[in-house]
Amino acid sequence: MGMQRAITYDRTGDPGELHLSEVAVPSPAAERALLEVHAVGINPYDVKVLTGQAPRDTPFPRGIGSDVAGIVRALGDNTGGLHVGDAVMGWGLNTLREQLVVRTSSVTLIPPALSLDTAAALVTPSIAATACLRAVPLSAGDIALVPGASGSVGWLIAQLALRAGARVIGTSGPGARDRLAAAGITPIPYGESFAGALSDALNGASLTAVLGAAAGDALRAGLAAGAEPGHVVTLAGEDLAQEFGVISADTTHRSIEQVSMVAELVAAREIEFSVAATYPLADAPAAFAAVASGHGGKVVVHPQQ
Ligand SMILES: NC(=O)c1ccc[n+]([C@@H]2O[C@H](COP(=O)([O-])OP(=O)(O)OC[C@H]3O[C@@H](n4cnc5c(N)ncnc54)[C@H](OP(=O)(O)O)[C@@H]3O)[C@@H](O)[C@H]2O)c1
Repeated sequence: MGMQRAITYDRTGDPGELHLSEVAVPSPAAERALLEVHAVGINPYDVKVLTGQAPRDTPFPRGIGSDVAGIVRALGDNTGGLHVGDAVMGWGLNTLREQLVVRTSSVTLIPPALSLDTAAALVTPSIAATACLRAVPLSAGDIALVPGASGSVGWLIAQLALRAGARVIGTSGPGARDRLAAAGITPIPYGESFAGALSDALNGASLTAVLGAAAGDALRAGLAAGAEPGHVVTLAGEDLAQEFGVISADTTHRSIEQVSMVAELVAAREIEFSVAATYPLADAPAAFAAVASGHGGKVVVHPQQ
């Protein structure tokens, strides 16, 4: 059996716990494909798994990573329309490795106009964004608050909300305000001046919806500004949603169509999505540190480098 490089860790902690290991290359069973992994999008959730904030009960050493884009190199039985050589995107278990077996139901073909980097970067953000819009559908006449509209998930939600005809008010740090404004989003700051800025942006109108990684301050202000609790969906956890009587986004019941729908829109340039930084596999600790900072845009790791 061949061996490959993979990122593993021996205990929960900070990004310095991640290191290169040699692990076996598996072969694909029925309904599974072996991918040569070219790009892995890193998400805040991966950082929470590493720190232990998102507990796992698998034994150490553990692998890490959930999003993936790569090329099909082998197929098990019953693998439907997939072929060796296809470029696919989707999710898997412990994707930070050179070769990975995935369920064929958790990957989809990458639209030809999309790079492997952008494809890998889109997976979890697409699932999170579409889960929010599924919970709170928008239409013309809606005024939606999108917390973290400069981040990967919020940027997708804001653009999907605009496409639905809503007016969008989005929070961001100072560096992203021009990008938001150019897309047609009303940018407001997060932090101390957030509630006042929201009130100024509304200028007497009522908010009709809140969608995204809304923490307590955004939920409180959003409800106070007129959004009905049934039109407020948060990605910040079920406990917080319960506390405020709002919807917790369902990202557990995910389907690969949520990813392909957004990927097609990005490929057609109907919405914009880009990768801010890429790292070779050995620099996974730096990639995780960049994501843990909470700013700076989408990070992708290249396992073949
Ligand atoms: N429940 C789920 O299944 C699920 C799925 C996906 C994501 N999420 C959560 O959604 C959140 C966003 O994910 P992402 O991938 O979009 O992350 P990201 O790309 O790192 O974006 C982070 C966003 O938060 C903003 N931000 C940074 N510091 C902030 C602060 N102190 N107060 C308010 N906003 C701040 C950033 O603004 P600037 O960069 O402009 O400073 C940026 O807009 C994460 O908390 C993630 O865990 C949950």
